[in-house]
Amino acid sequence: MTQLATSVKLTLNNGKTIPALGLGTVPSDDPSDVKDQVITAIKAGYRHIDTAWYYGTEKYVGEALKELFDEGVVKREDLFITTKVWPSFWHSPEKSLDISLATLGLDYVDLFLQHWPVALHGDENGLPAQPRDKDGNLIYDDDPVSGTKFIDAYHSLEQILDNTTKVKSIGVSNYSLHKLKQLLPKVKHIPVINQIEYHPQLPQQDLVDYAEKNGIQISAYSPVGSNGAPVLKLPLIQELATKYDVTVNEVANAYHILQGRSSLPRSSNLERIKTIVRLPSLTKEELASLYQVGVENPTRYINDEWGYGLGFKWWEGDTLSKDFD
Ligand SMILES: NC(=O)c1ccc[n+]([C@@H]2O[C@H](COP(=O)([O-])OP(=O)(O)OC[C@H]3O[C@@H](n4cnc5c(N)ncnc54)[C@H](OP(=O)(O)O)[C@@H]3O)[C@@H](O)[C@H]2O)c1
Repeated sequence: MTQLATSVKLTLNNGKTIPALGLGTVPSDDPSDVKDQVITAIKAGYRHIDTAWYYGTEKYVGEALKELFDEGVVKREDLFITTKVWPSFWHSPEKSLDISLATLGLDYVDLFLQHWPVALHGDENGLPAQPRDKDGNLIYDDDPVSGTKFIDAYHSLEQILDNTTKVKSIGVSNYSLHKLKQLLPKVKHIPVINQIEYHPQLPQQDLVDYAEKNGIQISAYSPVGSNGAPVLKLPLIQELATKYDVTVNEVANAYHILQGRSSLPRSSNLERIKTIVRLPSLTKEELASLYQVGVENPTRYINDEWGYGLGFKWWEGDTLSKDFD
């Protein structure tokens, strides 16, 4: 019988565990749909929910959790909930976290991530989330290439970890190799996770190796390449799905989970959420062949403007990043 992805737990560098399959909560359309997505996922065995202040869905995640707790389906301690502080709130992560906790109806999150190593010019409430000048350019509080305020923001997360009971672990997201190398010598607590776009079309082995060598686990967002699920069209993914008699989504998740990384799929299709929970036992050779697809033709699907200058490879439109070592 095929193993279940929902039963796999990975151990973080602080000894805590994270369920390997997490449900993403970026809204597909109406954010309130996320409530049913979360309920469906938890009832199907997921124990990990990935959200963020920026997504505007914490309210609906919170409504789902309340219903599940009230009905006795799960207890708070059975779940792993992640939220994140957005760059326009870089100056006040604890305030952002307090808003997230109140909106989620929780008194702690399992993981609090710095969403991006970037400082955007938000007010005391982190607004606007995308501050722009009259020409439409992002307004920064710090230079995205040479600035170091992103390190101050991470220090604020460390203080929350040390001085409160509001978070069990802290980590980062969208850190390139260059940014991780800048951060690590300055930290007291190594981030437990770096959450990045990752799938067979986007190799970035140097970043993954560096993170893992330093005890930072990778969590893969956009595991099927986001809207339109382009990764699932790869012939090799389709072949493997046929071979193991699972869905293409399950092959995409297995690519990460079998290599010690959590995978964070999102879906507005409740049937899909329920049925992508198996873990096919892909061989080492098959995992290597999937990796090779990206080496030959690397493609990144999330190319947000606030990622410019961070030093990522293949970031479409990024003319700021130099050839960092
Ligand atoms: N840290 C960050 O900066 C960051 C950035 C991006 C994402 N994330 C996290 O990662 C989660 C997932 O990433 P994502 O939202 O970019 O995308 P994803 O899970 O890679 O892709 C989701 C999209 O693929 C479609 N899809 C999935 N399976 C399909 C299938 N078999 N056939 C056709 N379409 C299919 C879904 O459509 P249906 O709705 O029809 O299923 C949906 O539109 C997010 O929700 C969020 O929690 C984090």
